Amino acid sequence: MARNMKMTTITAAILALSLFSFAQTISSQQVLVVGDRLGWTIPPAGPAPYDAWAASHIFVAGDILVFNFKNGDQDVARVTREEFLTCNTTNPMEVKKTNPANFTLNSKGDWYFTSTLDRHCELGQKLAVHVLASGPSPRPQPKPRGPRNFTVGGPLGWIVPPAGEIVYISWARTKTFRVGDALVFWFINGTQDVAEVKKEDYEKCETNKSMAVYSSSPVRIVLNTTGEHFYTSTYHDHCALGQKLAINVTSNTSSSPSSSSSESAFSPEAAMPPSTPGSSASRVLSAYMPPFLAFIAMAFFYY
Ligand SMILES: *[C@@H]1O[C@H](CO)[C@@H](O)[C@H](O)[C@H]1NC(C)=O
Ligand SMILES: *[C@@H]1O[C@H](CO)[C@@H](O)[C@H](O)[C@H]1NC(C)=O
Ligand SMILES: *[C@@H]1O[C@H](CO)[C@@H](O)[C@H](O)[C@H]1NC(C)=O
Ligand SMILES: *[C@@H]1O[C@H](CO)[C@@H](O)[C@H](O)[C@H]1NC(C)=O
Ligand SMILES: *[C@@H]1O[C@H](CO)[C@@H](O)[C@H](O)[C@H]1NC(C)=O
Ligand SMILES: *[C@@H]1O[C@H](CO)[C@@H](O)[C@H](O)[C@H]1NC(C)=O
Ligand SMILES: *[C@@H]1O[C@H](CO)[C@@H](O)[C@H](O)[C@H]1NC(C)=O
Ligand SMILES: *[C@@H]1O[C@H](CO)[C@@H](O)[C@H](O)[C@H]1NC(C)=O
Repeated sequence: MARNMKMTTITAAILALSLFSFAQTISSQQVLVVGDRLGWTIPPAGPAPYDAWAASHIFVAGDILVFNFKNGDQDVARVTREEFLTCNTTNPMEVKKTNPANFTLNSKGDWYFTSTLDRHCELGQKLAVHVLASGPSPRPQPKPRGPRNFTVGGPLGWIVPPAGEIVYISWARTKTFRVGDALVFWFINGTQDVAEVKKEDYEKCETNKSMAVYSSSPVRIVLNTTGEHFYTSTYHDHCALGQKLAINVTSNTSSSPSSSSSESAFSPEAAMPPSTPGSSASRVLSAYMPPFLAFIAMAFFYY
């Protein structure tokens, strides 16, 4: 019962955020890859990634959702709201077992997806999307933005990235960081840390002169100076394996011309509600933390 109420809260948040993200670009028919790079899997540690993914997109009737996964290890079930909230997958509306599983969102309203496999739903492999009859028109102009929290790596969180440092390079490339914004690093305590390092140490992967090291997830670092900032993990080989982030921070007083519409104003991380410790979603998620440890290796594998 208590969990249902939390889930209802999350769902309400998802729907509210879907509406909030109206200002995003609309095209006639979109093909949307669920979870982007993460694909469709039991999510790794961090704020609920499929909530964040849904909150960062606008779904319009006719759009196609593509679920990418490893055949045999996942399936995709369309379920009712009630089944979604209770993780009841005994009698789903539709199940697709072959990768990629495509669903055409052919009617407006709320669509709910999960996996029927053992405990996948309980572990956070669930997606709710709100589908609009048509895209908003004319497109609203984005407002100048206030300070933001950016969840580093998006749904992947802060890990040794399976695909190497390109993961954090491409994550940073699509964002504009301003003074006053914050980076939020999510990881499993004791498996990573966050070290703030100088440029030359970042390049050489030397962490013995780190300016600061933080070890308790989530780590929130406020960007209070302009220029380049460099982060890595002091754990053995993590830097060499690509767990490193370089960003450029710009002044928050510089005027934000129309170009801002194409970058971070509506990035998934910016809209992600559970990036703050203590939010209802992260509390639900942290309740599932122990099983996550067992599944984290699987998440690497599927990536
Ligand atoms: C699960 O849903 C089915 C119908 O879809 C229902 O018959 C069944 O009673 C539900 N099980 C639980 C435990 O709620
Ligand atoms: C699913 O969509 C992807 C991306 O558009 C496409 O490449 C693939 O062929 C589609 N698969 C099926 C079974 O329709
Ligand atoms: C800009 O950053 C400064 C220093 O962090 C902060 O005091 C100020 O409120 C910020 N202004 C805006 C518009 O975010
Ligand atoms: C840091 O480590 C490097 C080699 O990993 C070493 O050459 C250097 O002397 C160390 N610096 C300090 C201050 O310990
Ligand atoms: C990490 O440890 C800190 C302090 O012990 C705790 O507050 C926090 O919730 C832990 N984070 C996670 C993700 O388990
Ligand atoms: C800059 O950020 C750090 C880390 O978030 C904080 O400890 C420090 O007080 C900040 N400095 C200023 C001048 O705001
Ligand atoms: C930051 O911006 C400067 C100037 O545009 C550029 O030379 C530098 O490579 C950038 N650094 C990062 C980490 O993106
Ligand atoms: C960013 O996170 C901090 C700490 O959790 C929170 O107080 C703040 O309201 C958040 N800011 C935004 C814009 O979400």
